[in-house]
Amino acid sequence: MTVMEYRNVLAEFQGEEGELIPILQRIQEKFGYITEDAIKNISPFLKISENQIYGVASFYSQFRFTEPGRNSIKVCMGTACHMRGGQILGEAVERELDVKPGQTTKDKRFDFHRVACLGCCALAPVIQVNEDIRSRMNVIKLKEMLDKYE
Ligand code: FES
Repeated sequence: MTVMEYRNVLAEFQGEEGELIPILQRIQEKFGYITEDAIKNISPFLKISENQIYGVASFYSQFRFTEPGRNSIKVCMGTACHMRGGQILGEAVERELDVKPGQTTKDKRFDFHRVACLGCCALAPVIQVNEDIRSRMNVIKLKEMLDKYE
């Protein structure tokens, strides 16, 4: 991503403070995530400090600040999943992939997120990988499952 590419995105806007969210959405749509450089370019354009931009952007869970992995793994931390070992599954993912929530593995194979209820509590504990819901997970099944993703 070059400065020129960010400028091309910003050229679609007027430079008004209220455009912050649409600009962030456009950047994420185009580049996959909000980079530090993007924030550096938006700041003078909208005359808002970088800290304010981070503050606003991190309030919305739709924005991500790390490059997405080739696969996305979400471990449910909702009540039903939590009661049935969601926390242990989350820790197992961290250990197996050497990754923290909100990060992407060094080899870019997975990005990892802890999320609220995925809406299928009867299948708890649940993990979502890309579009697939994996139900009644345990640590053994988790390890086997991770190996299947390139
Ligand atoms: S609590 Fe995990 S799916 Fe609802």
